[in-house]
Amino acid sequence: MAKEKIIVGLDIGTTKIATIVAKIDDNKKDLEIIGVGISESFGMKKGMVTNLEAVTSAIEKSVSAAEEMAGVRINKVYAGIAGAHIKGINSRSAISVQRPDKEITKYDVSRVMEAAQTVSIPVDREIIYVLPQDFIVDEQCGISEPVGIAGNKLEAEVHIFIGAVTSIQNLIRCVNEAGIEVEEIAPEPLVSSYAVLNEDEKRLGVILADMGGGTTDIAIYVNGILRHTAVIPVGGDQITNDLSVGLRVPVSEAERIKKEYCKAMYFEEDKTDPVDIPCNGNQGERMFSQKELSFIIKPRLEEIFWLIHNEVRSSGFEGLTASGLVLTGGTSQMKNIDKLGEKIFSLPVRKGAPNTSIKGLHDLINNPIYSTGVGLIHYAWKKHCEDNSKNELNIFEKTFNKLGSLIKALP
Ligand SMILES: Nc1ncnc2c1ncn2[C@@H]1O[C@H](COP(=O)(O)OP(=O)(O)OP(=O)(O)O)[C@@H](O)[C@H]1O
Ligand SMILES: [Mg+2]
Repeated sequence: MAKEKIIVGLDIGTTKIATIVAKIDDNKKDLEIIGVGISESFGMKKGMVTNLEAVTSAIEKSVSAAEEMAGVRINKVYAGIAGAHIKGINSRSAISVQRPDKEITKYDVSRVMEAAQTVSIPVDREIIYVLPQDFIVDEQCGISEPVGIAGNKLEAEVHIFIGAVTSIQNLIRCVNEAGIEVEEIAPEPLVSSYAVLNEDEKRLGVILADMGGGTTDIAIYVNGILRHTAVIPVGGDQITNDLSVGLRVPVSEAERIKKEYCKAMYFEEDKTDPVDIPCNGNQGERMFSQKELSFIIKPRLEEIFWLIHNEVRSSGFEGLTASGLVLTGGTSQMKNIDKLGEKIFSLPVRKGAPNTSIKGLHDLINNPIYSTGVGLIHYAWKKHCEDNSKNELNIFEKTFNKLGSLIKALP
């Protein structure tokens, strides 16, 4: 009998709201994206809710577009959360293994994971998600699955995502007001990395920057392990504002010019580009050169890159990211932004969009604006697989225990 389940990722961005619908087929162990909905975002600033009603109505539009394409009704979503209040902290804990045969059990793993979460956080913050980074058994590190291994001491390294209680509440409220339940809240820097980075990059060390409209989400992997995350409250909307002020044109016109003509760096070979770019403002149509546009936007882009650079430096992982920098999010579509990144970081820089490891609608989702939305599907799928294996283990344990008691009851 086919066992199908629908999972939905809801990316409530500062600029757009994206809903991604995927279908899980448990029999075939298969996942396929079957619907995408997008709407313009209103009522969000720098990744945080500023107008509940506006956000709710934008969510409704995005969700109903996705429902129409997928031909399903959406009741529950995995929602991404960003904003400068999201912090990632590393923690480590240790326990002694108590079984006489010293074999590590699931119970030991949950004990050590719990112990790792006993960090002091401010009262107005809460834990969003705890990601296991590494398990260490008797000083031997690099163990991803310690159950069944024998040892005296089990240690866990974890990355804990915390966020402001009120910001989380506001986000959940907007989704609920749209008639939808929140299955889970997931940190955006983590989920974007699931959608964009490949295993080799993570192993060699890499910095991911999801450059959106109001925020830039950062994730740093070293030796295949997520070691540092941060959200900085800057993004493409500031570039648009600079253009709007610099050219004295409305924001909508500045946005059009930015997307159509602006380059992060201007090279001599770009001389062949159109010289006169028409900009329509209150003073009628005026002409600007590529060089003039670049002159206005470059300082802001440099500022964003230097903020990312500072974050990498303060994380303590500078020099350990041989794969360089991967840029995603809408702002990464700016022409020559990778070249500017290379100049500032002296590292290889690539532009990334959601990878094609999930089936379905590749042409549509192969766009850096969908990295968080598709990442949420990866996150939900991971959770689903973990729950399934827990259930299977429970069934196995129950049967095993039953058999055990039957044997004990034998005369
Ligand atoms: N071709 C382009 N060139 C430059 N910027 C672009 C281009 N296309 C989109 N953008 C910019 O990308 C930004 C939107 O990106 P994205 O959709 O990733 O943001 P978001 O997820 O809504 O916001 P956030 O993640 O910050 O909350 C906008 O500032 C938009 O102007
Ligand atoms: Mg975003």
